[in-house]
Amino acid sequence: MKLSNRLKTIAELVEPGVTVGDIGSDHGYLIAELVKNNIISYGIASDINKGPVDNCQQTIQTYGISDQVDVRLGGGFVPYQPNEINTAVIAGMGGELIRDIFLESPEVVKSIDTFILQPMTGQDALRIWLLENDFQIIKEKIAEEQDRFYEILVVKHISKPWSLPNHLKHFSKDDALLMEIGIKMDVDASYIGFIEKKIGKYEVIADNLKNHTENHPKLTEVEKNIQALKEVLLCIQTPEK
Ligand SMILES: C[S@@+](CC[C@H](N)C(=O)[O-])C[C@H]1O[C@@H](n2cnc3c(N)ncnc32)[C@H](O)[C@@H]1O
Repeated sequence: MKLSNRLKTIAELVEPGVTVGDIGSDHGYLIAELVKNNIISYGIASDINKGPVDNCQQTIQTYGISDQVDVRLGGGFVPYQPNEINTAVIAGMGGELIRDIFLESPEVVKSIDTFILQPMTGQDALRIWLLENDFQIIKEKIAEEQDRFYEILVVKHISKPWSLPNHLKHFSKDDALLMEIGIKMDVDASYIGFIEKKIGKYEVIADNLKNHTENHPKLTEVEKNIQALKEVLLCIQTPEK
């Protein structure tokens, strides 16, 4: 089985020996990979839809790991009891759905140590919600795949003040752009590509605003974002002495 770079990056963030619950497991490739490579010895894969659950059963049987993976039908954390898993992966869903999954099952959520989240949309809103609800984003990573940049967040329950890495020191903590680009990202080539793509996106918006209206009220904010993102790249390229 060859995992996509997105799933491979998620797998690398799982600490060896934990009990993983993969919520929305679909085909079950992630949990199969973790068990097959002896990263974990037991895990639970769950999905709200029967088709994916059947596909996951098939994957687990194919790899002969049925005694190490429990496959369950059900939405979010509903098929889980408190203290059954200590790491939850929720990947490939919208940020709002991930937030709703947290809200639906507070007792199970409270019992889980680590969450590895890969929102497809609404990443900024999810970050804000997590930080406002006593979660700490301890690490973030970009997985690059065919010109797409997937944001992966490692989250724990810690309500304490958080700090910004040096390359983000020019942001204030309530800056909307900061919530869009992440606060604890590993600085690597994929992260640089991700920031460059954001600059490109804001440059297109700025051009459109300039072409349509003279002195559009949003232009100043968009140009400020471009400047702040360029400064991120500059800070990365000129490390502090
Ligand atoms: C796009 S797939 C992602 C699969 C896999 N996690 C990945 O990242 O490759 C989304 C999966 O989540 C499942 N799903 C959607 N809403 C869900 C929910 N509330 N609880 C559990 N599974 C859900 C879907 O049935 C689907 O199999």
